[in-house]
Amino acid sequence: MNILQIENLSKVYGKGETAVKALDDVSFSVKKGEFVAIIGPSGSGKSTLLHLLGGVDRPSSGKVLINNTDIYKLNETQLAIFRRRQIGLIYQFYNLIPILTVEENITLPMLLDEHKVDPEQLKNIINTLGLEKRLNHLPNQLSGGQQQRVSIGRALISNPAIMLADEPTGNLDSKNSEEILELLKMFNKTFNHTLIVITHDERIALQADRVISIEDGRIAMDEVIRS
Ligand SMILES: Nc1ncnc2c1ncn2[C@@H]1O[C@H](COP(=O)(O)OP(=O)(O)O)[C@@H](O)[C@H]1O
Ligand SMILES: [Mg+2]
Repeated sequence: MNILQIENLSKVYGKGETAVKALDDVSFSVKKGEFVAIIGPSGSGKSTLLHLLGGVDRPSSGKVLINNTDIYKLNETQLAIFRRRQIGLIYQFYNLIPILTVEENITLPMLLDEHKVDPEQLKNIINTLGLEKRLNHLPNQLSGGQQQRVSIGRALISNPAIMLADEPTGNLDSKNSEEILELLKMFNKTFNHTLIVITHDERIALQADRVISIEDGRIAMDEVIRS
């Protein structure tokens, strides 16, 4: 089953002489539970692609279907709700809310949705991420690796259809990078969460099921490593 379908996706930033075509007619699909690594040089359009998959920005043309929902047919409010429930986003610099505790950061998407947090599920996530002793800490009281764990918890709390990560280990040392990768893989394999990761790190790319390489806004290579 395809959980994600991208059809002729293009994105142009700016207008006229300063216009930049960041994404140029990209199409592919992703199966439920697949772990896809997206690689490519800086400026090739990887983050643009991830933002469009995550409903963070709108394309200039083309479609993104997630679980058969054509997400850019939704209005802003519907899209915001869809994003909160169906997309787990993980960034290089964590993007945690500095004045909220670890527990509050993780449960924020549920509170914004006025949904009750399932205490069992929250406990499971927190234990898996090894954050049980940090629940009342603020982000600036945590290491980079711990902050990234919190952001993974926040991405997972709503049981999203897909997890999207933009250089999730780009700011971490090799030990923490490995631990974060192991966690992402564990959530991918154990809970069948579809995982799409942008990375410069060859070790991450080699552990994916499939590697897509982007160059100049186009797919230069799309290879299944393991199925
Ligand atoms: N908000 C923006 N406004 C204008 N140009 C942008 C914007 N975001 C990205 N770009 C340009 O689009 C191209 C692709 O950028 P990006 O998707 O960030 O690449 P990558 O993540 O692969 O480094 C680059 O030329 C970049 O300068
Ligand atoms: Mg980028």
